[in-house]
Amino acid sequence: MSNLLLINGPNLQLLGQREPNLYGPSTLSEIEARLSELANERSHKLRCFQSDAEHELVKRIHDATNESTDCILFNPAGFTHTSIVLRDALLAVEIPFVEIHLSNVAAREDFRQRSFFSDVAIGTISGFGVISYELALIAAEKYLA
Ligand code: DQA
Repeated sequence: MSNLLLINGPNLQLLGQREPNLYGPSTLSEIEARLSELANERSHKLRCFQSDAEHELVKRIHDATNESTDCILFNPAGFTHTSIVLRDALLAVEIPFVEIHLSNVAAREDFRQRSFFSDVAIGTISGFGVISYELALIAAEKYLA
């Protein structure tokens, strides 16, 4: 049994209506419900959190240490390409994390080609839509085993 934390960054609460051609039809609630179901099936505990605010995401990462979090599943959204602060927070708490993207960022604009997370993540899963989250949970499980 592992203690997992799913964190979603800015604008991801708009999934379902936000650029569905890129991000698919599922809402964030549906994704969280599906991932909680998968976590339950595999006997893991999953907490979920979303925020648009960098400082709230930093605080949530800090708080993860008090909950004995084994692994963070993290879609930093637009902060992927800008946030040294969130990178530093993850390095500070020393909790391993999987970087997640719904879209295939490698096939998108130049400014999305830089990630402040990929080189310090366990790994990055990108381009599989909602399945990216499921693969990330399974990757975390295998990593922790
Ligand atoms: C995203 C990709 C980011 O570039 C973008 O800013 C997002 C979503 C994804 O899941 O594909 O908000 O992280």
